[in-house]
Amino acid sequence: MMDIKFVREQFPALERDFVFMDNAGGSQVLKQVTNKITDYLLHSNVQLGASYAVSQEAGERLKRSTEIVSELINASRPEEIVMGSSTTMLMRILSLSISKNWKKGDEIIVTNTDHEANVSPWTDLEKSGITVKIWQVNPETLELDMEDLEKLLSERTKLVAVTHASNVLGTINPIKKYAEIIHKAGALICVDGVAYAPHRKVDVQDLDADFYTFSWYKTYGPHLAMMYGKYDLLKELESINHYFIDNDVIPYKLQPGNFNFELTYAVSGITDYYAELHDHHFDGKDLQFKQKLDKSYGLISAHEEKLATRLLDYLNSVSEIKIIGLSSAAAEKRVPTISFVHENLRSDEIVEAVDPHNIGIRFGDFYAKKLIQALQLEEMNGVVRVSLVHYNTLEEVDKLIEVFKTIFKS
Ligand SMILES: Cc1ncc(COP(=O)(O)O)c(C=O)c1O
Repeated sequence: MMDIKFVREQFPALERDFVFMDNAGGSQVLKQVTNKITDYLLHSNVQLGASYAVSQEAGERLKRSTEIVSELINASRPEEIVMGSSTTMLMRILSLSISKNWKKGDEIIVTNTDHEANVSPWTDLEKSGITVKIWQVNPETLELDMEDLEKLLSERTKLVAVTHASNVLGTINPIKKYAEIIHKAGALICVDGVAYAPHRKVDVQDLDADFYTFSWYKTYGPHLAMMYGKYDLLKELESINHYFIDNDVIPYKLQPGNFNFELTYAVSGITDYYAELHDHHFDGKDLQFKQKLDKSYGLISAHEEKLATRLLDYLNSVSEIKIIGLSSAAAEKRVPTISFVHENLRSDEIVEAVDPHNIGIRFGDFYAKKLIQALQLEEMNGVVRVSLVHYNTLEEVDKLIEVFKTIFKS
């Protein structure tokens, strides 16, 4: 059982009398992270790459930070980690760079379930003669069918852009299976892990993802993002940095203007936290960081499943409510990002009735516009989304349910 008191103590913002349930929009930040931002700015705020001691020390701190991130996601080397201001920006950088080697008539596949961050950078390439194909969600099951992917792939397919977990549906997609099919067809897979990474362990080698991106501000950190790319693929990409930054300068060639130093250093506060979470609950303090991760994420997913079960049990019991996503809470199938619509109430009406109760939830399309359009949910102002993470409590979910009961009268 996860010690929820210990967990919440790591997030100073949770001391406030407010229930944070818009976590898929942005999570609260760890004190380990804010401490590191301050520490870096107070003690290491110099230009990198100079020969003097403080500059060397700052460089070491950042090197260690990207090393530990590469362990967090099981990359094969730290150079595979590209830091950037946001997932949206990193996807755009990737599309600009990778497409320099593509030819007219080459094809890409995007889904209509993804956040636009993993759609527009690819569909915009249509202007340069790239053919775009859309992998449509099955409107009955709300899943992406593998047979549909197989039909869309051709020998001209260069890349398939797909999300690991939808930020609306919460459904976890079988990326490893997709990767197998996509690689067999000779194409690459670019995964948006933003809605997945706050909840489950990411193992890029096990998934066999070619590119994998997520945002730290949704995984208990600062406004910063990272993109993993397989080393050999990154090597082939064209530099988008200055002309004197050669193609073999990885990842700097994809980090024009460089990354944010204090925030990159602070990301190691998140990895510290996952190790502390392990050490607080289990023996084996001397284990390697990577060996601790499974157990830490095990605690997180078990707690999240309990939260999701409590909320879904209630929502499933209200006949006017339709869950937009899986109605089951199973942790291997979904993350606790739970969306729904009500037969008689618009989504904005529901959220605005919840607001006065000091609970933060949200309505809308969450930039997964094509999904909301495909499901014909625009008229009700999109879905109501309750996005939970492991620092939420069952008491908070109960409080929300009590408020819902007054709104839904059931
Ligand atoms: C699934 C998903 N992908 C991408 C993004 C965009 O991330 P960023 O704000 O870092 O560009 C979001 C943000 O909400 C998201 O939920």
